[in-house]
Amino acid sequence: MSQRIPLCVRGTGSFVPARVLTNDHFIRYLDTSEEWILARTGIRERRWVGAEECTSTMAIEAGRRALEDARMRASEIDLIICATATPDHMFPPTAAYIQDGLGMREIPAFDLEAACSGFIYAMMAAAAFVSAGLYRNILIFGAETLSRVGDPQDRGTCILFGDAAGAAILGPAINSEQGILHWELGCDGSRADYIVMPSGGMRRPASEETVRQREHYLRMRGREVFKFAVGKMEELIDRALAELGMAPDELALVIPHQSNLRIIQSARERLGLPPEKVAVNIDRYGNTSAASVILALDEGRRNGTLKPGDTVLVLGVGAGLTWGLFALRL
Ligand SMILES: CC(C)(COP(=O)(O)OP(=O)(O)OC[C@H]1O[C@@H](n2cnc3c(N)ncnc32)[C@H](O)[C@@H]1OP(=O)(O)O)[C@@H](O)C(=O)NCCC(=O)NCCS
Repeated sequence: MSQRIPLCVRGTGSFVPARVLTNDHFIRYLDTSEEWILARTGIRERRWVGAEECTSTMAIEAGRRALEDARMRASEIDLIICATATPDHMFPPTAAYIQDGLGMREIPAFDLEAACSGFIYAMMAAAAFVSAGLYRNILIFGAETLSRVGDPQDRGTCILFGDAAGAAILGPAINSEQGILHWELGCDGSRADYIVMPSGGMRRPASEETVRQREHYLRMRGREVFKFAVGKMEELIDRALAELGMAPDELALVIPHQSNLRIIQSARERLGLPPEKVAVNIDRYGNTSAASVILALDEGRRNGTLKPGDTVLVLGVGAGLTWGLFALRL
């Protein structure tokens, strides 16, 4: 078994915008159907931001709820890491707006971009900071405004995405059981163009031409990503179970990234677990990228599925193509 990284989840919180978009929204103007969307993705509805909302505003609310849950004051946080692929701006970091919005001290605050694997990367970065003794209480986020990068004319992608933010406060373990029991991070950069927003970055700055070509929207080679995600999740699960020396039913909950219900189901079958042991929120929120797993972790803690002493397995695959997994004892 891997060396345990001592760590404690002191609190979690999440936020989704009030505006609900059912599949009807797309059926009204695109060549698609309720049956196709539900059968191919598992999505019934998703939340989209209103005009005044963006990644930082959602994260600020999620952060407030995490502080409340942890019964901590903003002044007790020592570092902020915001995992997002949809920041408020290219710069400054969205984490800076979050720091200000939560009325925090001049603590370090930065963004981390690993797309749908972002929250898993942020968790491991925080675990490294805490276990090295560099920072004590770290507030991490998975927060995304994906409604603004989906091309409304591309039926293969715009139906998939939702907006949301989740937050977790991590600190030193308070007993000898808590922490990360096993983890893995990776990236295959040769597949970087499988999911890409072609313009708006410094390789291809925004111009009239890029806007005309709709390059400010996300492009995805869906079928190839799908195949890669299914295979990678199986690999991650097999290695995790071998390393942990645990049977799947000893896990309190498995939280896969929510990109497609069929990918989640293939992971569930690999584990041989009943549906109630594998978190699903894609039906309600769509693919919320870096936010998806922390939304599920927060929900699991709040509805009593996850209790102190439980082990939860969190894993995902995203643009990069990146991937990650951690097994956390609460
Ligand atoms: C995007 C995704 C749902 C598409 O499902 P799929 O079963 O792979 O579908 P395909 O892209 O192969 O398309 C199959 C057909 O459905 C059509 N189609 C695509 N979107 C459609 C929609 N919303 N409604 C109706 N038909 C649609 C396609 O045009 C294609 O038609 P064709 O056979 O005539 O060319 C799926 O590939 C997926 O979930 N990929 C992984 C996404 C992911 O993991 N992302 C992770 C990081 S964000």
